[in-house]
Amino acid sequence: MKNTVVVGAQFGDEGKAKITDILASKADLIVRFQGGCNAGHTVVADGVKYKFHVIPSGILYEGKTCFIGAGVVLYPASFKAELEDMIANGLSREKIEKSLKISPLAHITMPYHIDLDGIQEEKFGKNKIGTTKKGIGPTYTDKYARQGIRIEDLFDEELLSKKVDIILERKNLELKNLWGLKTYTKEEIMAELASYKELFEPFVCHNWQELLLDFKKNKTILFEGAQGVLLDVDYGTYPYVTSSNPIAGGAGIGAGVGPLAIEEAVGIFKAYITRVGEGPFVTELTDEIGENIRIIGGEFGTTTGRPRRCGWFDGVIARYSALVGGLSTVALTKLDVFDSFEEIKVCTAYKNKKTGEITKYYPTNVQTHDDYEPVYKTYKGWLTDTTKCKSFDELPTLAKEYIAELENIIGLPISIVSVGPDRCQTFFR
Ligand code: GDP
Ligand code: IMO
Ligand code: MG
Repeated sequence: MKNTVVVGAQFGDEGKAKITDILASKADLIVRFQGGCNAGHTVVADGVKYKFHVIPSGILYEGKTCFIGAGVVLYPASFKAELEDMIANGLSREKIEKSLKISPLAHITMPYHIDLDGIQEEKFGKNKIGTTKKGIGPTYTDKYARQGIRIEDLFDEELLSKKVDIILERKNLELKNLWGLKTYTKEEIMAELASYKELFEPFVCHNWQELLLDFKKNKTILFEGAQGVLLDVDYGTYPYVTSSNPIAGGAGIGAGVGPLAIEEAVGIFKAYITRVGEGPFVTELTDEIGENIRIIGGEFGTTTGRPRRCGWFDGVIARYSALVGGLSTVALTKLDVFDSFEEIKVCTAYKNKKTGEITKYYPTNVQTHDDYEPVYKTYKGWLTDTTKCKSFDELPTLAKEYIAELENIIGLPISIVSVGPDRCQTFFR
């Protein structure tokens, strides 16, 4: 397999983890490069359901190395819970310690980041983003404001103490004066950080440069994206986005290997589209059809349990995603969800309700999205169970036609098709 990056091509939850898990069997190193525990990644292997947040799903295999790169942010309480969950699911702590490596450059989500995410969502009322409240925005804000705490800081108490003096003064001003929130004492923060050192120590990869050099030279790397292109901080439905770069271009930065290490970018698309949280959604279905997709597709958030908003496949988003996401091929998931649908729609363009103008290009200013309505093409449903299909040839003709139409619209080949949550319900073309 070529060095491959798996990218969510819509608004997240496309089934990235399922495809990552399958591709991981052919990789030596699996790297998470952005996001944090806002991600909820589900893998069903041999009937057991695993839920990942920051740990790369490659951890399920023997003899693979899993690396959490510099671009990821780590919330200690969530990382601890995820570890405990893995162990409860039958993975040994020894095996996890042997496989899992964390970059010393990854930033830490501090208690005040959680407080700030919570208060900002609360105070903004109807203008909130609908975040996962995992402190993601405030952690990345501090990273870019050059006042974040990184994993490597935990290992030099004297320097850490000086750093906390500088950061805490500013943070307490912000917490108290801007938001009227509780402040933190230095003792509280230092005690927290001491516990984080204990938690992360077995996994921190101080010789990460050596590790990456070795894997770059002669091994296969799989980059596991979180979120999706339309949640990208630069290219997504800003400001209704996350605070990192889930596009393929983010992998070189967040992993530390540069763009030339990436040879293939698989965009994961559902046969329809979903979104959690606020923000525009031109093909959203607020009717019974949307409800049917939600129930049949089990569209409830892995991290927050929130019902996902559902809609028809959006070809305008798909073409945009192929371009800015840097995709080279496509995995189509959840085709089986349409097995009982008599008809299926696909949005091929947007129509401006005011001017009547038709566009195939994605309007990036989301404040204008209310002006657009989808232009749909309707397809006949195949009304056949696809969940047991083992190859493309076994799919009903109408499903093959639907796939061919999507390939045309996206402008890329669909090389992987998924017809159920289990590893075995997947085929390559
Ligand atoms: P991710 O965040 O992109 O990894 O996706 P999630 O794990 O949040 O959500 C995808 C959900 O769909 C999970 O519950 C998967 O087990 C499930 N899933 C993945 N592929 C398929 C598929 O082809 N068909 C069905 N029915 N479910 C799938
Ligand atoms: P995976 O990796 C779906 C959404 C949130 C919110 C916005 C910002 O499972 O696909 P944040 O907490 O990141 O500041 O929230 O982004 N969001 C996701 N939606 N899947 C995800 O991850 C998401 N991670 C964040 O709902 O709208
Ligand atoms: Mg998810």
